[in-house]
Amino acid sequence: MANIFERLGKGEGVFTDEGKLSPDYVPVDVLFREREVREFAFCLQGSARGGKGEHLIATGPPGTGKTTCAKHVLGQLSEYSKKAVPIYINCWEFSTRYAIFGEIANLLGEVLPRRGIASDEMMGRIVQNLKREKKSLIVVLDEADRLFLEKEEGILYDFARAPETSRVNVGIIAIANNKEVFARMDARIRSSLCAKMIEFFPYSPVQLKEILKARARVAFFPNALSDEVVDLCAGIGAKNGGDARIALSVLRGAGKEAEREGARKVTLEHVKRAKEGVLGGIAKRKFPLLDGNLQKVFEFVEKKGDVDSVEIYAHFGAKEESEERKIRKWIAKLEELGFLEGKEFVDGEGRGRRIRVTGK
Ligand SMILES: Nc1ncnc2c1ncn2[C@@H]1O[C@H](COP(=O)(O)OP(=O)(O)OP(=O)(O)O)[C@@H](O)[C@H]1O
Ligand SMILES: [Mg+2]
Repeated sequence: MANIFERLGKGEGVFTDEGKLSPDYVPVDVLFREREVREFAFCLQGSARGGKGEHLIATGPPGTGKTTCAKHVLGQLSEYSKKAVPIYINCWEFSTRYAIFGEIANLLGEVLPRRGIASDEMMGRIVQNLKREKKSLIVVLDEADRLFLEKEEGILYDFARAPETSRVNVGIIAIANNKEVFARMDARIRSSLCAKMIEFFPYSPVQLKEILKARARVAFFPNALSDEVVDLCAGIGAKNGGDARIALSVLRGAGKEAEREGARKVTLEHVKRAKEGVLGGIAKRKFPLLDGNLQKVFEFVEKKGDVDSVEIYAHFGAKEESEERKIRKWIAKLEELGFLEGKEFVDGEGRGRRIRVTGK
């Protein structure tokens, strides 16, 4: 009997190319996002011609295609023009001014001294490189919420001012879940950035279905999926915030369940099993990076669904004003990061705030 891995590799199972369902894969066609892709391109066209770029802030809930659109447009730009250097930075990975300048210098091929240099000097190297190569710079700062958490959003100011201070052209696309973080941005940064805002909205069930179908064509054997299976995965994505990542993860998970059983078709039962794992994993996705107290508050609100802030103070044993203030700060931080949303209310007994998980 042939080796089991060899058999799996030779077309047994359900996948033809499971990698096409991986989170890092950038689809060739970005569906239902023509307007957003055009906005991104419009903002970058100055840079693409070696001139002044414009700045753009893109916001929207998880899995609505922000990163996909940005990477797609950067790819197109590199094909079209050699006058701009496109750079993609994930701010959860590079979260300080120092780390971001370092990564950009690195990607531009600058060899930095081992002794380490100050961030201003690093920016100096970046500027010299761009001038020498006669190029403009395009920086996508993805998951930029993190910059605000680290109080490193001043980097937006550095980039926005670069044409005046250093005579180099820089175009910025900043992406985040929560548009509030930009609304609360320092006036000095906001006015120098003067960015256009664009909002991404959740996908509808029909859109999710089409996105899944297109991906299924390149990832699964033609007969491995029925319409019901695709519909169910799309429905799960739709119910959980119109999130394409969730829909695709459930589809991939269902495929893996089928392969584990040696089945050639994915069933509704496989989807249901995959759903548990995917939805259970989502909440934990960004949590390792949240401080323990924030995580506890979030989990409490998530369990309660919709809760009065006073109840949160009580749950965490706040007895004095100073303790309440501490918890209020944690809640505010979670709101700023887009994990929670709060709403003021007035009733017979006075005013208050109700807190819930964003988008729930
Ligand atoms: N319009 C689309 N067409 C095809 N695939 C899409 C589309 N939008 C999203 N996807 C797929 O869904 C997944 C999530 O999309 P993406 O990473 O762009 O979301 P996001 O808005 O950046 O989410 P987050 O805020 O969590 O970073 C990716 O695997 C991507 O390939
Ligand atoms: Mg993203």
